[in-house]
Amino acid sequence: MDRNLPIGIFDSGVGGLTVYRALHERLPNERFVYLGDTARVPYGTKSLATVERYAVENSRFLQAHGIKLLVVACNTASALALPAIRKAVKVPVMGVIEPGSRAAVEIADGKKIGVIATEATVQSHAYAHAIAAMGSNVEVIERACPLFVSLAEEGWADSDVARAVAQDYLSEFKQTPVGALVLGCTHYPILRDVISETVGANVKLIDSGAATARDVETLLENSGLTHDEPLGLYQERRLCDDLDHFYVTDAAERFAKVAERFLGSAPSILEAVEIWGHDELRTH
Ligand code: DGL
Repeated sequence: MDRNLPIGIFDSGVGGLTVYRALHERLPNERFVYLGDTARVPYGTKSLATVERYAVENSRFLQAHGIKLLVVACNTASALALPAIRKAVKVPVMGVIEPGSRAAVEIADGKKIGVIATEATVQSHAYAHAIAAMGSNVEVIERACPLFVSLAEEGWADSDVARAVAQDYLSEFKQTPVGALVLGCTHYPILRDVISETVGANVKLIDSGAATARDVETLLENSGLTHDEPLGLYQERRLCDDLDHFYVTDAAERFAKVAERFLGSAPSILEAVEIWGHDELRTH
C-alpha cells in the first residue's frame, strides 16, 4: 500500500465536510478525496438495504480513485453499512461510530450518555451497541433530530428557529441529565453552540468527527501509512486547497455554497460524477 495516496472520505452529502475539517486539522500532511452523494441524500430516512447499496457504491468509487484508507464520515452509513463496506473494498475502513462512542465513554465518566442522530442511526442503536461492546453499562439515551440537518445547511444555526427546535428535541436531556452528548450526525457540530446552550455547559459534547480524526492518526501511525512526501509549495495547508479533490453526485453549485458556509471556503477542485451500478462511473 502506497503511504502517499490520499485518504478517501464519503458522506451522503455536504455534512461530512465537518469530518473532513477535523481530519484536515489533525493531519495537515495528508491529502483527501471526498465524495458527497448529493444525488441521493438524505440517508437518514432510508432503509438498511438502500443505505448499504449506496455506501458500497461510494466506497468502490473511492477505492477505484486510489486511496490508502476509507473514512465513512456519514453516521448513518457507519451505523448501517460498515460490514457491507468492509466486504466490498480492500482498503482499511474507519467509521465514526466507534471513535465517537469511545470518546463518550471516557468523557461521561460513568454518567448516562446521550446520542443525537438521524432516524436511521437512532433506530439501529449503533451507538448504544458500540458503547455496550466497550464494556460500559451506562444508560444510553438516543434521540433523532432530523430538522438540525436543514437548519445547518440553510445557514440557520444561530437563529431563533434553531433555538426553538433544539428546546423541543433536547428537552429529554434537561430532564435526565447526561454526562456526555454525542453529536452523532455530520451536521450537528455546526449547531454546537445552540445545542450546548440548550443542554447546559456541564454536558460535554462529543464531536464524532474529531474523535475519528484522532483514531485515523493512530491507525496511520500504527500501520506505517502516514504521508511522508513534501506536499509541494504549500507553506501551510488550507481547507479545500487544490491538494484535496471533491466529487459530488449532483448539484455541485449548491455543495460549493454550503461548503463555503460550513468551512469558510469552497473546494478548489470539485467535480460532478454519476455512479452507475457498483463499479461503473461517468464524469461529466
Ligand atoms: N450524513 C448524515 C449522517 O451523518 C446526515 C444527513 C443524511 O441524512 O444523509 O447521518
